[in-house]
Amino acid sequence: MKIGIGNDHVGLLLKPIIKDYIEELGYEVVDFGTNSSVRTDYPNYGEKVANAINDKEIDLGILICGTGVGISIAANKVKGIRAVVCSDPYTAKLSKEHNNTNILAFGSRVIGSDLAKLIVKEWLDTEFEGGRHQKRLDLIEKIEDDYLC
Ligand code: RB5
Repeated sequence: MKIGIGNDHVGLLLKPIIKDYIEELGYEVVDFGTNSSVRTDYPNYGEKVANAINDKEIDLGILICGTGVGISIAANKVKGIRAVVCSDPYTAKLSKEHNNTNILAFGSRVIGSDLAKLIVKEWLDTEFEGGRHQKRLDLIEKIEDDYLC
């Protein structure tokens, strides 16, 4: 399974730690940048990772900015993307079981690296439950069809 990772200049602090950890868990990682500490714009990296999921270049994505908020909002504008911002493993788990999230986002200004690793592990280990939850995802898809170009 391939995991894409994207971040802005603030997320860069945490990215190498998370990237190494995901590789240790046995996943292949595709890095969509930034790898520079020069101030940059988080929407570009949210969009890159989201498009790579839709292009089937990667299976899942991880996004990191200062809070995880801006970069996840950007990714969620792309059709088919269900990005969650998490600061705790429980939300990470439930977001996969119930919402089949395909992007996990968090903030390098909000959580430390050990908590981020727990969140990542819980999210990657959890499967979508399907069943009654699929109907709700279908309703979300209908909203996309109605409002997104
Ligand atoms: C950059 O200063 C900061 O706004 C960004 O990393 C992120 O927190 C946005 O949501």
